Amino acid sequence: MAIKIVGTGSHVPSRILGNHDLEKMVDTTDEWIRTRTGILERRIADASETPSEMALHASRRALEMAGMDAKDLDMVIVATVTGDRIIPSTACILQKKLGAQKAFCFDIQAACTGLLYAIDIANAMIAQGAKYKKALVVGVEKLSSITDWKDRNTCVLFGDGAGAVVLEKRKSSGDIGGILASKLASNGCHADILQVPAGGSEMPMTHEVLDQRLHTIRMEGQEVFKLAVNEMVKACNHVISEVGISVGEIRWLIPHQANIRIIEAVGTRVGIARERVYVNLDKYGNTSAASVGIALDEIVRKGLLQRGDYVLATAFGSGLTWGATLLRW
Ligand code: UT7
Repeated sequence: MAIKIVGTGSHVPSRILGNHDLEKMVDTTDEWIRTRTGILERRIADASETPSEMALHASRRALEMAGMDAKDLDMVIVATVTGDRIIPSTACILQKKLGAQKAFCFDIQAACTGLLYAIDIANAMIAQGAKYKKALVVGVEKLSSITDWKDRNTCVLFGDGAGAVVLEKRKSSGDIGGILASKLASNGCHADILQVPAGGSEMPMTHEVLDQRLHTIRMEGQEVFKLAVNEMVKACNHVISEVGISVGEIRWLIPHQANIRIIEAVGTRVGIARERVYVNLDKYGNTSAASVGIALDEIVRKGLLQRGDYVLATAFGSGLTWGATLLRW
């Protein structure tokens, strides 16, 4: 019996940072940001909006849609690179806020691919038997806390937010929904091209680290761009051929929202018509592990999915990590 997504939820902070605001902060223009990235604005969390708080709002919405009580959850997995604290995990902090007493909880770190990794882990754990039945998976980021607001190469790209899904074994054999296939991959040889150098045990925080802003994101954008397109296309093709459907049957491609040029290149090369490629990058920028979850929730709540529709999600991020997941709604 397949495992399916029975609820989605998302949350973004209310504060909007537009491209014109950034023009006052670094040497950039609205025109450059719009044409090179597709981003018009992004959401920025305030001090009280911790990742666990954003995750809490998204999770409550997903649980409500699923008609599920938090205390019935068997597991809570949070995908994030910007957890509330180094320890404990944000998943444990979320557990307390949700009242998910029965669940075991942990974070995973696969950067922008985190939600797809976490969904696959939950799917496999539920599929293995009767031990676990209900999972909450959240992708959440407060990237504003690790953004170098003086670096125009990166600060125009990122935003904050959370996307959540609830997974459960489908209840009847007449239900055709479920997660059909996933392809996850990594290549640590590219670890340095997208990183936060300091704050871990290799380079603990010092005054020098803070002065040089080494606790913020460093990225070789063009290198990441090329690898992102190639690997996401391969991962998408892999799951499509594994399931054995034609590309024309896919209702929505949900790509990680990093750059409109990457999104369009992936859509074109996989062969999915532009109107079936979901984009909300203009409103939120790159929210890393949250991006696919926020997009899926928007699609569901706008009524853009019918029962039985095929949805292909793909993501790419630091590690490098990437993947694709094909599901049926
Ligand atoms: O989510 C994880 C995965 N991340 C990604 O997928 C990001 C992938 N990379 C990208 O999206 C793009 O590479 C960027 C948006 C980061 C950069 O776009 P690009 O077309 O690759 O630009 P570039 O880095 O080659 O820079 C072109 C020029 C440079 O100036 P010169 O050297 O040609 O004079 C940059 O200094 O654009 C300049 N530039 C800017 N100018 C105005 C870079 N950032 C800005 C800016 N405003 N914000």
